[in-house]
Amino acid sequence: MQGDPRVLAALNEYLSYELTGHRQYLVHAAMCRHWGFERMARIQDGYSAEETQHAARIIARILLLGGAVAPREFGPIAGGEDLAQQLERDHALVAAAVAHLRSAIGDCEQCRDFASRDLLAEMLDDEERHLHWLDTERALLDKLGAENYLQSQLG
Ligand SMILES: [Fe+2]
Ligand SMILES: [Fe+2]
Repeated sequence: MQGDPRVLAALNEYLSYELTGHRQYLVHAAMCRHWGFERMARIQDGYSAEETQHAARIIARILLLGGAVAPREFGPIAGGEDLAQQLERDHALVAAAVAHLRSAIGDCEQCRDFASRDLLAEMLDDEERHLHWLDTERALLDKLGAENYLQSQLG
């Protein structure tokens, strides 16, 4: 089975978001744990694991389509110096992934690769939830103030 080159390119592009996210959230989780923000560390570990699962499914799809697994690297991981900056940088990454997914889903549709479209639509649902969570945390930080917000991340 041979996939359309446009679909394969879109899958590889999304894969690079997944791998960047996986590593970025892993680093953020460890930094949060180091600072004593255990609640946030656990959540970031969860997102890191989610991106690993996403990546594994994308890789399997690329291979099924007879493609080469060739994600583009995004350069350095955007490790934030504090929690607020981590949330900002994660938000920027997930927002970019969501924008890519929306156009990639259109590409799959045009190429009549409906299974890839459905796979990416499932990922989009997860990433929209991820983005919503980041929006909520950023709003809480704003409303509660840094001191109260950080206090709530200890447990
Ligand atoms: Fe993902
Ligand atoms: Fe995500």
